[in-house]
Amino acid sequence: MSTVVTIPAAGPLDSAWQSMTFPSYRPLLAVVGSVNAATGGRPVARLAVDGDTKPLGLALAEIGADGTTAELLSLFVTADARRRGVGTALVEALEGDLRAAGVERVEGVYMTGRPSIEALERIFARCGFDPPVLRKIVVRFTPEEAATTEWWRRARLPEGSEVFSWIDLKPEELEEIRRTQAESPWIDPDLEPWRCSDRFDPVSSVGLRRHGKVVGWVINHPIGPDLLCFTTSFVRRDLARRGAIFPLYRASIERLMGSGVTCTFVTSSQFESMMRFVLRRCAPFISFCGETRGVSKTLGSVPTSSA
Ligand SMILES: CC(C)(COP(=O)(O)OP(=O)(O)OC[C@H]1O[C@@H](n2cnc3c(N)ncnc32)[C@H](O)[C@@H]1OP(=O)(O)O)[C@@H](O)C(=O)NCCC(=O)NCCS
Repeated sequence: MSTVVTIPAAGPLDSAWQSMTFPSYRPLLAVVGSVNAATGGRPVARLAVDGDTKPLGLALAEIGADGTTAELLSLFVTADARRRGVGTALVEALEGDLRAAGVERVEGVYMTGRPSIEALERIFARCGFDPPVLRKIVVRFTPEEAATTEWWRRARLPEGSEVFSWIDLKPEELEEIRRTQAESPWIDPDLEPWRCSDRFDPVSSVGLRRHGKVVGWVINHPIGPDLLCFTTSFVRRDLARRGAIFPLYRASIERLMGSGVTCTFVTSSQFESMMRFVLRRCAPFISFCGETRGVSKTLGSVPTSSA
């Protein structure tokens, strides 16, 4: 293989580069060098090519609409060119491009659980990024896997409680939740049920009534063929302490048995007890458990050349 060089992408990239980024970022390659109409940001790319201009690697970022921050979106080097410093060179060069464009801070979020993560984190360390910070835990599991966990067997409804299909929530019950929340907040604002009431899965979304009052919900959304996201789960604090979320999860997942659906669930580091539950009680039994990590770096100013 001849010498590898990195070059800034001056404009839209053709299809040869498509396979070097995630499907969701591929449309951005067509607007490199101009404005991404969806975000107001500006996609920027660095390319690695060998002497014959054969594509070997791609680093893709987007400068935010404010012009001072950028997100590193993806980094890829072809398998035969790896471990030769190409990934590091791409990130260093892209950083230079961003700095020259006036960017002051660059951030990146990535998911663990892939073989290249060790290399990626070495690149960030070598390039002087702050150490990675845990952002979210992501799990994927089948209903059948969930049924093998210890919490599944132990799940018991609190006395005086019943599970109901969320689709059967009465308008006056929703109104009561809104009113009581406005009077004296008892639900984490991120978990308020009206935030996720659009296009929820009618089969597996369930609520919990206790002594006739709605005190919890597990609301799920389809996000792909046979992929269901457990979007919002909540149980009133006094009942959560007694583990009342578990029978609700169980009731929801039981409705999916034999359907061929895979479930996914994301929890962020602000919900510490949920993180602990996922890592200790779920991860050992399920298909996939990964975390998203975030890195960032404050970029220095462009060195000025002296005459
Ligand atoms: C991650 C990736 C871009 C690294 O590219 P690369 O050109 O091999 O990286 P470099 O040669 O610059 O190596 C960077 C460091 O990682 C180390 N490294 C590379 N591959 C490694 C591996 N498989 N295991 C452990 N360390 C590895 C290198 O030794 C080097 O460490 P050092 O700087 O301490 O010597 C490449 O592996 C890749 O494209 N992977 C698939 C796509 C991906 O997962 N991208 C990340 C998410 S967007």
